[in-house]
Amino acid sequence: MTLLAIETSCDETSAAVVRHGEVLSSVISSQIKLHAEYGGVVPELAAREHLRNLAPVTEAALQEARVRPGELEAVAATQGPGLPAALLVGFKAAQAFAFALGKPFLGIHHHEAHLYSPWIAESTTREGRHPAGEFQTIQHAGKLPALPDRTADRERRTGTPKRFIADFSTFQPNVSLIVSGGHTLLVLVEAEFRHRVLGSTVDDAAGECFDKAGKLMGLPYPAGPEIDRLAEAGNPKAFDFPRPLLGDPGADFSFSGLKTSVRYLLRDHPDLLHHPQSVRDLCASAQAAIVEVLVAKTIRAAKRHGVRQVTASGGVTCNRALRRELARACQTEGFALRLADTGLCTDNAAMIGVLAERKLSAGVPPTPLDQEIKPGWALA
Ligand code: KG4
Ligand code: ZN
Repeated sequence: MTLLAIETSCDETSAAVVRHGEVLSSVISSQIKLHAEYGGVVPELAAREHLRNLAPVTEAALQEARVRPGELEAVAATQGPGLPAALLVGFKAAQAFAFALGKPFLGIHHHEAHLYSPWIAESTTREGRHPAGEFQTIQHAGKLPALPDRTADRERRTGTPKRFIADFSTFQPNVSLIVSGGHTLLVLVEAEFRHRVLGSTVDDAAGECFDKAGKLMGLPYPAGPEIDRLAEAGNPKAFDFPRPLLGDPGADFSFSGLKTSVRYLLRDHPDLLHHPQSVRDLCASAQAAIVEVLVAKTIRAAKRHGVRQVTASGGVTCNRALRRELARACQTEGFALRLADTGLCTDNAAMIGVLAERKLSAGVPPTPLDQEIKPGWALA
């Protein structure tokens, strides 16, 4: 099946073409630079940017995949959860596209797509390689520039273009950690399309904690990647930040207290920010606290529910310390670990497309074209 997928739930406008599990193209136009000026995502601005960028991004995805609209056999889009005005743009456009083509449409739960994103991996097989199978991310703070045909350029730059393909051959029941700027979830995935939320954050999401702690340290939004970078040269034991709910047997998280302790520390010792090494130590220590809680709770949940596999996805899964510590803990405990590719951790339409194709192929009925977005849609 050749399927076009669209994702506009937050601040990334993304379109992807998927065929038989292969990501033929994935174009992401990120609005990070635009929202950075305001220190967070501004919903109205996000919606306006989606409106402006959706058509060129979709056109680029079709071009990269070398697929004509008439060749599409289905269309999918994120139906929720997310910012209402942002979701509306991609979801309604995708429904209109499906209507015009006379093809089935499927609305996808954003977090359910994250759950399966770790199974989309770079293929090492060159055979049958699609000529344009590499991700394209466009960072911009204003109008989307004309999208050049970069195929030749990319061939030169990378030698061999990457080929991403969904491979579920090693799938087994797992505990999945979804950590992003808006969500922190632990989910038991019992079988494909069958899952149960075990716990979530009672206040701030893990990414939000990175961003807010970083803001207190004077780092630009989003601070997560910058904390990750600075922490590499910092001492994680320099400051003893709390590990909220670490001892709690449940699977819920809480991160607002950690952010508050960074605030109090800096209120009492503002001079720390004048010393670059102290800032690195602050980053490493705050990061260590977040990572320790995420890893301990994930491992505990996996043990409790008797699964042998752990997966992780969402923007915070880009964090190197989290990747390292999850790998270390899984090795110690004998769990197989699947981490989403760093190019697929943050929001993207490729994961929406892969899940939609699998669902339609499995006989899941299409979503009616008069159905609405579900901004508060909770994962069952
Ligand atoms: O998945 P994503 O795009 O979700 C939302 O749109 O909510 O993730 C964005 C979040 C931000 O909070 C960002 O600071 C965090 O992921 N993030 C990181 C890293 N890369 C992104 N946090 C820690 N370390 C990173 N390397
Ligand atoms: Zn997401």
